[in-house]
Amino acid sequence: MVPMTDRYAVFGNPIAHSKSPLIHAEFAHNTGQDMTYERILAPLDGFKAAVEAFRAAGGKGANVTVPFKQEAFALCDVLTAPARAAGAVNTLSFGPDGIHGDNTDGVGLVADIRDNHGFALRGKRILLLGAGGAAHGVILPLLAEHPASLTVANRTVSKARELARHYSGDGLQLTGCAFQDLAGQQFDAIINATASSLSGELLPLPDGLYARDSLAYDMMYGKGLTPFLIAAQTQGAAMLADGLGMLIEQAAAAFHIWRGVRPDTAPVFDLLRLT
Ligand code: ATR
Repeated sequence: MVPMTDRYAVFGNPIAHSKSPLIHAEFAHNTGQDMTYERILAPLDGFKAAVEAFRAAGGKGANVTVPFKQEAFALCDVLTAPARAAGAVNTLSFGPDGIHGDNTDGVGLVADIRDNHGFALRGKRILLLGAGGAAHGVILPLLAEHPASLTVANRTVSKARELARHYSGDGLQLTGCAFQDLAGQQFDAIINATASSLSGELLPLPDGLYARDSLAYDMMYGKGLTPFLIAAQTQGAAMLADGLGMLIEQAAAAFHIWRGVRPDTAPVFDLLRLT
């Protein structure tokens, strides 16, 4: 019998822009894995049907992106702790006992900050901007790095307070507040998990938030600096990072879940810088 090439895919809407097929093709090539990885545009009201059709056709697993991560969560029979905490799933694996869901966004963010940018979060004051799905997805892995403090600020302050309350534990009391409440404070790492860069809008942040040697991280990425990173540069952030590294690292974590092999991410950085 001829062995079948294993099929994977990324589901989203829109999806044409997704770099995930390029990233996974490079991982597969470099690790010698026999697999394909395609983009699938799921209709806004047809995510479940699209996933079921892919699975029935022999698909082994999939990534899920905007706007389906919460729907993917609802679809799973088995969930990992990060997926449960985030209430969102970006990595599906189809097994004999059902659909397994994981969320690799947070570990991807932390791996990028720690390993690629060489920035240690332990003992640092972190400010997380935003309180939607993206913020939910990264909070536990951030806390696992043992920061000195974690503050969540959001346009809708009630959501920031709820997020902070939800994740406050024995070890650390989180603070939830509005952007203007940040005046007079300083942070070592400021992470933008809002969708503001998508619309090119600037967050109404007070001046002087960036401590010495601080990191500004935008989970979005695009050509050139995002508006958030341009503002951070003006405000004196020492390091600027966009979400391309997070995208590559979350993909590497998904690849590891599916194939049991951890790919080297450095060649993918080189590849994507050229595209
Ligand atoms: P995602 O899954 O990308 O996080 P989401 O759950 O809709 O999407 O959350 C979007 C986040 O970006 C929220 O924190 C939102 O703030 P609100 O909770 O006040 O809506 C934030 N956001 C989006 N556009 C923004 C803008 N122009 N300025 C400030 N915050 C913005």
